[in-house]
Amino acid sequence: MADRADDGTIRLEATATGIAEAARLLRTGALVAFPTETVYGLGADARSEAATAAIFAAKGRPAHNPLIVHCTDQAAAERLVDLPGAAARLAERHWPGPLTLVLPARADAGLAAPVHADLSTVAVRVPAHAVAQALLAATGLPLAAPSANPSGAVSPTTADHVLEGLKGQVTAVLDAGPCAVGIESTIIGFAEDQPILLRPGGLTQEQLAASLGAVPKSAAGGAIQAPGQLQSHYAPRARLRLDAIGPEADEAWLGLGPVPPTATGPAVSLSESGDLTEAAARLFAALRNLDAVTAPGGTIAVGPIPRRGLGLAINDRLARAAAPRPG
Ligand code: TXA
Ligand code: MG
Repeated sequence: MADRADDGTIRLEATATGIAEAARLLRTGALVAFPTETVYGLGADARSEAATAAIFAAKGRPAHNPLIVHCTDQAAAERLVDLPGAAARLAERHWPGPLTLVLPARADAGLAAPVHADLSTVAVRVPAHAVAQALLAATGLPLAAPSANPSGAVSPTTADHVLEGLKGQVTAVLDAGPCAVGIESTIIGFAEDQPILLRPGGLTQEQLAASLGAVPKSAAGGAIQAPGQLQSHYAPRARLRLDAIGPEADEAWLGLGPVPPTATGPAVSLSESGDLTEAAARLFAALRNLDAVTAPGGTIAVGPIPRRGLGLAINDRLARAAAPRPG
């Protein structure tokens, strides 16, 4: 069931026994990475000061960057936040699913201070993954979980990715194979009752617009921000050249549809048929794999991705991966 080959981090299979063990560890205050339909999360008891502080240490995450709290259902989320008007409408239609709502924390929410960072709000999410659901039910706890990668690196969509970045830093990883959505949740905040898009993600603008009657405004420049939405993120070692027609000599290739015949080096098509759902699911693994085989200082040319459906979130992640690194 468990294998302890990875520098002390236990790999647990997502069986009833593995889930029960992961829940036991979480209740003792340990860090356990677990699958969601979007990406793997680095989970901890959201009520424990020590456990949530340990998340920041393991990731090297700046203290001002708050955590998403995962709940079994809307009723559990409503013990942490009130869900007025538009928030309730979104929760009813899209939970469980790849949607995170940022709302003022209830006075009796009981969450540990590191979860909030310096904010009075909290980000809540009800994941749709069966294993995440089983784990939440087995712990009976709200679970704080950012993406299970070192701060600033590409998010993990497999247990192997988690171990690549965090082995030895986390007690266990619950392995349920690759994540189906493959890109993080869409984050919505509210100004008065007005929904504001803080991060495009696995729930599309089109789906949001169908529920809200309009596309939510974007946070850019507004009062509400997601503190973790730094310009440079998902940083591979290689440089990314976006909206390329094709690869130059010596460049690797990442694109949608058939690989251009001019590609002579490493090349990945995110979806041969141009399907954006498939492309999102494969994006982070493709970035990791290409980065690993691209020479230091090398470049990955990236073909254009349509800005509709999941293409919006894919473009957002690619732009951050391409952004100049601080320092
Ligand atoms: O799909 C996902 O959302 C994954 C899975 C594991 O749930 N989680 C995830 O967490 O992507 P993380 O921490 O990597 O990204 C969460 C983002 C960060 O940019 C953080 O700043 C923002 O959400 N955030 C968290 N709490 C917030 C709050 N109270 N107000 C504004 N932004 C918040
Ligand atoms: Mg993250």
